[in-house]
Amino acid sequence: MTSDASQTNADSPDSPLSLAQMAQQVLTTADGREKTALSRRHAAHWFAYRAGDAAKIEVGTASPPLHPARPDKPELLNPRDVPRRRPGSEAGRKALLHAVAHIELNAVDLHWDIIARFSHVPMPLGFFDDWVKAADEESNHFNLMCDCLEALGSYYGELPAHIGMWRAAEDTAEDLMGRLAVVPMVLEARGLDVTPGMIEVFRKAKLTQAVDALEVIYAEEVSHVAYGSKWFHFLCGRDNLDPKEVFHDLVGRYFHGHLKPPFNEEKRAEAGIPPDFYWPLADEIPVKPPALR
Ligand SMILES: [Fe+2]
Ligand SMILES: [Fe+2]
Repeated sequence: MTSDASQTNADSPDSPLSLAQMAQQVLTTADGREKTALSRRHAAHWFAYRAGDAAKIEVGTASPPLHPARPDKPELLNPRDVPRRRPGSEAGRKALLHAVAHIELNAVDLHWDIIARFSHVPMPLGFFDDWVKAADEESNHFNLMCDCLEALGSYYGELPAHIGMWRAAEDTAEDLMGRLAVVPMVLEARGLDVTPGMIEVFRKAKLTQAVDALEVIYAEEVSHVAYGSKWFHFLCGRDNLDPKEVFHDLVGRYFHGHLKPPFNEEKRAEAGIPPDFYWPLADEIPVKPPALR
């Protein structure tokens, strides 16, 4: 990866940014709403090029930071120090929305990071289309969660949040297949397992704005998991590797802990992840999803 090209292009108004440079810009923008606005503008620009309505954008290369820029708030704590609140209470519902907003902001950075960090790996353009689309959707998800928090008199940054969320990105910074195995195929697949329970929490409280927002998230997250599975299988096929064996090996190497049932087997299947990928990595004893404990 080189930064020479990125600096030359970024400094010249005549040279449009490459996709990798756009990704780096998003990663180095700290404020959540600014980050997502920039992310959506860059995504629209990329798709205008892909539709033939704008000049060519090179994939290019960039030097993404190891940690993306983040706002001063929320305070980031170890998971065990983040206070747990009962989801049936108003404080619990705010905490749940806050936790999802934090996940979504991380997801915006994760999807731009896979573009910036692995743009030197020869991949079909469809690989970049998928992650730009996912980043655009995560940006909308973050904004939707912020809107819900603000409607309840809160805001993103009011509560502490989980510090560990970038660990998967750091651990897989040099390994594209590891990144695909752990981020979309484990962490985002986990979102498919727990989101229906969250929707129920807000449905019971008659908070339709949050129900509607979480329904959007739930529907769109299936495709993010599917993109992970698609490109993971693509890379296995290119190197003549057994996808299930490689998946188990990479998750064992990079993911700290077991996968927690119950699994949303139907949505996981829709996203292209068969049961023999995740059941062998599961805890034996079913536990409640952490977000609802
Ligand atoms: Fe999302
Ligand atoms: Fe996602």
